[in-house]
Amino acid sequence: MSGRIPPEFIDELLARADIVEIIDSRVPLKKAGREYKGCCPFHDEKTASFTVSPGKQFYHCFGCGAHGTAIGFLMEYDHLGFRETIEELAGRYSMIVPQDAAKDNSVERRKQADLYSILGLANRHFQQRLREDESAKNYLIARGLSGEVAARYQLGFAIDSWDDLLNSLTAQKISTKDLETAGLVSKNDQGRIYDKFRGRIIFPIHDQRGRVIAFGGRILGEGEPKYLNSPETPVFHKGKELYGLHQALNAISKQKQAIVVEGYMDVIALAQAGIDNVVAALGTATTATHVEKLFRQCNEIIFCFDGDRAGRQAAWRALENSLPSMQDGRQVSFLFLPEGEDPDTYVKKLGHDAFVMQIQQQSLPLPEYMLSHLSEDIDLQRMDGKAKLAGLARPLLNSLPRGTLKAMLLRELAAITHMDEASLAELMQEEKKPAQERQVTATAKHKKNNLIGKTLSLLLNQPEMALGVDNLEHLQSLELAGMDVLCQIIEIINISPDLTTSAIIERFREKVYYDRLCELASSNIDLEDDAVKTEFTDAINRLHLMAIDQETGIITSRSTKLSEEDKIKLRNLQQERLALKH
Ligand code: UTP
Ligand code: MN
Repeated sequence: MSGRIPPEFIDELLARADIVEIIDSRVPLKKAGREYKGCCPFHDEKTASFTVSPGKQFYHCFGCGAHGTAIGFLMEYDHLGFRETIEELAGRYSMIVPQDAAKDNSVERRKQADLYSILGLANRHFQQRLREDESAKNYLIARGLSGEVAARYQLGFAIDSWDDLLNSLTAQKISTKDLETAGLVSKNDQGRIYDKFRGRIIFPIHDQRGRVIAFGGRILGEGEPKYLNSPETPVFHKGKELYGLHQALNAISKQKQAIVVEGYMDVIALAQAGIDNVVAALGTATTATHVEKLFRQCNEIIFCFDGDRAGRQAAWRALENSLPSMQDGRQVSFLFLPEGEDPDTYVKKLGHDAFVMQIQQQSLPLPEYMLSHLSEDIDLQRMDGKAKLAGLARPLLNSLPRGTLKAMLLRELAAITHMDEASLAELMQEEKKPAQERQVTATAKHKKNNLIGKTLSLLLNQPEMALGVDNLEHLQSLELAGMDVLCQIIEIINISPDLTTSAIIERFREKVYYDRLCELASSNIDLEDDAVKTEFTDAINRLHLMAIDQETGIITSRSTKLSEEDKIKLRNLQQERLALKH
């Protein structure tokens, strides 16, 4: 995790990255005094309360309280992981993320690199076998494929043999152990190794970058199982990958739309028909990761599943897993094909134009599909029917992010159930209450150590003030919650005075109080520079006073009779105290 990326690298990255530029390319910002303002992407608002500070390299929304660094923004907005964000930013500023220093880890990486190259070799082997095999080629031709599309998807063939691939790859010095890890061979009870794919058309599965990570194999004609897929391997995770994504990327971002189908052949048949923005989930349900992956490329997803029961079930799962990603501006629709059709057969029947027309005009928007599916077996004339609908809708509404869509669905639901919106909204939230209550008590607790919080917040506004803090050791002796963090931050700034607020905060990403630090950095944002300085000096003084009082207390409580040494100490403390007061 983040611990493995050296903090100096993150400092450097944040020094090059400009949060204003990064956010502005996603959310239009306008200059307002020292800061930039825009409409908050994390909640629905009409007046701009989303503020980005170029000085602190930090953003904060006065409306919903969202806040963070450039890294935090990208993680939140683009739904990236920490490492992914660092890699994306690094790529943009031509920096190379240091490899993990731990030795076993680099071995791990080398092994992965080997896996990719083994899978690449296997891919070439299968493609070569297809070129040599008339029956396999004829099968594809019979299914309407051109050589061009077959080449684009790098289709191949595994001949009906127990060891064709095994022999070919071991001859190229690949160990059977590695072949096993790559998911290309299986082992029987006697320990004998044999080819996993035999007598099958091969569909290589690529990752987004175009590296082969797995294979699917279809039997020629009838037989069970119809498709065989690579197992999960260190480089292949079904729930994360989409078949055809690499080939579809350009079309998806150009058309700002992605079509998701169920099968390998559906992707390929649509490509054959000239529809290129198509991917398939790999024989599993569409996951939230799949949806997010697509929403990074476009803002509209159309699920086009088979017109059978399984297809409709898959569509509902896709809906459920799309909900968390439904920020305003994103759209999801569903095209339900006639019973017995799949996109492959349907596009063959309709042709390109009519199929595209269906997609554009006949697909059902997510909100409509959701409400109609939920009310399917419910008698909405009855009061208990309406209550049932509200109950079914609750978990779904709760997984939607805040925004217009959620608000509108709530209104629609209120109209259907004849409830007023406010009580319905309250009902929908009921489950969340305990968490909110916990939050309130936590805030109350924070108020008690207000001084530390205040000091931190002032410091995070103008980090260079840390250079003026004397006698840090004395402060460190003060037993007050948060004192250690304050002192740590003062030390960090003294070591690296050029760090921006965001770089300082990034050092604490893994800590439980990270969010609190972000909050503190966002408060006192509107104070004048001089006021910040005065208040900070005052706060540090008060902390020193408290440290003196604490020490005095310890000495006087030790015994009723003070030693000479203690008396001197007390007198010194008294003098320090006076000096601080003036
Ligand atoms: P389908 O049965 O709809 O296959 O399975 P298809 O894509 O229409 O294939 P053709 O037209 O009969 O050749 C949809 C997807 O489910 C997975 C595959 O990814 C397939 O493309 N699947 C299906 C399997 O993994 N294993 C199976 O046995 C069947
Ligand atoms: Mn099919």
